[in-house]
Amino acid sequence: MIKKITVIGAGNVGATVANVVAHKDIANEVILLDIKKGIAEGKALDIWQSSAINNFNTRVKGVTNDYLATKGSGIIIITSGIPRKPGMSRADLIKTNAGIVKEVTEKSIKYSPDAIIIVVANPLDVMTYAAFKTAKKLKNKVFGMAGTLDTGRYKAFLAEALDISPKCINALLLGGHGDTMVPLPRFTSVAGVPITQLLGKDELDKIVNRTRKGGGELVGLMGTSAWYAPGAAAAQLAEAIVDDEKRIFPVCAYLEGEYGHNDIYIGVPAVIGRDGIHEIIQIEMNEDEKALFEESAKSVREVMNTLDDMNIID
Ligand code: NAI
Ligand code: 2OP
Repeated sequence: MIKKITVIGAGNVGATVANVVAHKDIANEVILLDIKKGIAEGKALDIWQSSAINNFNTRVKGVTNDYLATKGSGIIIITSGIPRKPGMSRADLIKTNAGIVKEVTEKSIKYSPDAIIIVVANPLDVMTYAAFKTAKKLKNKVFGMAGTLDTGRYKAFLAEALDISPKCINALLLGGHGDTMVPLPRFTSVAGVPITQLLGKDELDKIVNRTRKGGGELVGLMGTSAWYAPGAAAAQLAEAIVDDEKRIFPVCAYLEGEYGHNDIYIGVPAVIGRDGIHEIIQIEMNEDEKALFEESAKSVREVMNTLDDMNIID
């Protein structure tokens, strides 16, 4: 068991991650840290007060910018960052969040040099890259959460369309966390039956399209981005590390030749266990799938270039 898991940022996503991790009872302690005074303390206390009701032992503690309290964490989950606001350019968002990711990564690893870092802040692929460059850690120890969420959305839509349990669905999704992500119907099945035998092309296309815009759909409904499924997805990755599960999840991983790419963080299937990314799984895509993956990689690289031009990350 990992003794301590730290969640940076006690906003909607961070508080949800802390809550789900605590309920899984996979760590002795969860530290929730935020820069806003009192917010992490209050949310952590609220979660901890549900322990006797929901039967978990994990102590949840909130702190304001006190990194000493995070000392010795086995996992650091970075959710600190702002969502894009009206009038804000993509570049403004990148600049603000890259600054935050850099700062919190530096401060966290000072006290937990061996921690595995899971990045959640957006724009996800490039913020994960920023954390990797800042942390100067082995690539397997820094990865991002997005594909696990996006696959969850894809499965939920499929379950609804088929009126069956989402638990029966196996699916794969690649690429960056954005409208260019690549859900893969050819690698999607229901209890072993290929999805293409159960749903027509038009319906599948609609679901793929809805998945790609899944984050935007929720922003449209709520005026801010989602937190329940993102929080649950990050907690699921933490659980896979703690329990050395070696389960395969789509995560945002650093590529060095895999899928024909170098020096990029992007969503690919990977075996997750005690050492973080244990192995990247390479699947054989057809020409259409490859073209979609290339388009997605191109859009991730555009954001990477914007970040590089800002000279925020060494
Ligand atoms: P939020 O605004 O509710 O929470 C962010 C928190 O970070 C705030 O409490 C803020 O005070 C804190 N914060 C800001 N700077 C900090 C610093 N330097 N140190 C410590 N804490 C700091 O936002 P929410 O909804 O929780 O989203 C967080 C991030 O996660 C956003 O960038 C969002 O776009 C992203 N996100 C990513 C998803 C994914 O699939 N990867 C899914 C959903 C959200
Ligand atoms: C989401 O997919 C916006 O990344 C956020 O919900």
